[in-house]
Amino acid sequence: MERPNWAPGDIDLERPSVARVYDYLLGGAHNFAADRAVAQKTLEMMPDVRTGALQHRAFLRRAVRYLLGRGVRQFLDLGSGIPTVGNVHEIAQAADPAAKVVYVDLDSVAVAHSRSLLDGNERVRVLQADVRDPATVFASPEVNDLLDLNEPIAVLMVAVLHFVSDDEDPQGILAGYRDRLAPGSFLALSQAGFEAHEVTPEIRAARSVYERSVTRTTLRNSAEFTRLFAGFDLVEPGVVRLPQWHAEAPDDEGIAGRAFPGFCAVGRKAWR
Ligand SMILES: C[S@@+](CC[C@H](N)C(=O)[O-])C[C@H]1O[C@@H](n2cnc3c(N)ncnc32)[C@H](O)[C@@H]1O
Repeated sequence: MERPNWAPGDIDLERPSVARVYDYLLGGAHNFAADRAVAQKTLEMMPDVRTGALQHRAFLRRAVRYLLGRGVRQFLDLGSGIPTVGNVHEIAQAADPAAKVVYVDLDSVAVAHSRSLLDGNERVRVLQADVRDPATVFASPEVNDLLDLNEPIAVLMVAVLHFVSDDEDPQGILAGYRDRLAPGSFLALSQAGFEAHEVTPEIRAARSVYERSVTRTTLRNSAEFTRLFAGFDLVEPGVVRLPQWHAEAPDDEGIAGRAFPGFCAVGRKAWR
């Protein structure tokens, strides 16, 4: 198979990646046959998976607009993925050209494509790092050169925490971000999840196809998801299904339909 110029030499084209499967679900072009095969198989088991991906992305856009409205001009997008329509910097810099964004992802394609797209944009940086390691993220020149940690920052983790298991201490990881943020900073999270009574055979089958080929997932119920916001005050409307968060914004046309089983919320670091 020919290697396109956006695929760095270190990646195995035969091995599906989280970022490229998601890119395919969102209708992107930065994926390979192995990624498309898993995505298709997952879609056969659970056709709502594509709607879910679109709903996470729509939540991201609405959350960024909301945060801009609350005066935030600095964004740390953790697990930012392969750039697609409506990236954080596009929304933020359309509202205020001075807005700053640091994108962080582990995936080589996501990082390479982000860097090529953002070349020349002085107010955006791309960091290849593991978001489970906040100390490394905060020690990086990308974060230190661009972001002012004395001012509020919005930390975004959209459709990422289902890749962080409970053994990996998601609360501890989030505390590692929270404790370095100025009061008045925000945390926007979304992840796949269900209440226990909602888990169906189709969900189990789709999850098992995905986990066999791509990676392990940790689905959380609304109470478990809410606990991730320790040290943050949830803003209205609290923890809800993805299309329900500030649904008044005209962004979800065609995908609002049935709420895909995932949760989202935005919290503000308390002034205490
Ligand atoms: C489902 S995609 C979501 C992308 C983007 N946040 C969005 O909503 O469109 C998950 C992204 O998280 C990245 N990711 C997963 N675990 C990660 C980790 N431990 N460190 C950095 N990136 C991670 C994957 O590479 C992928 O790009």
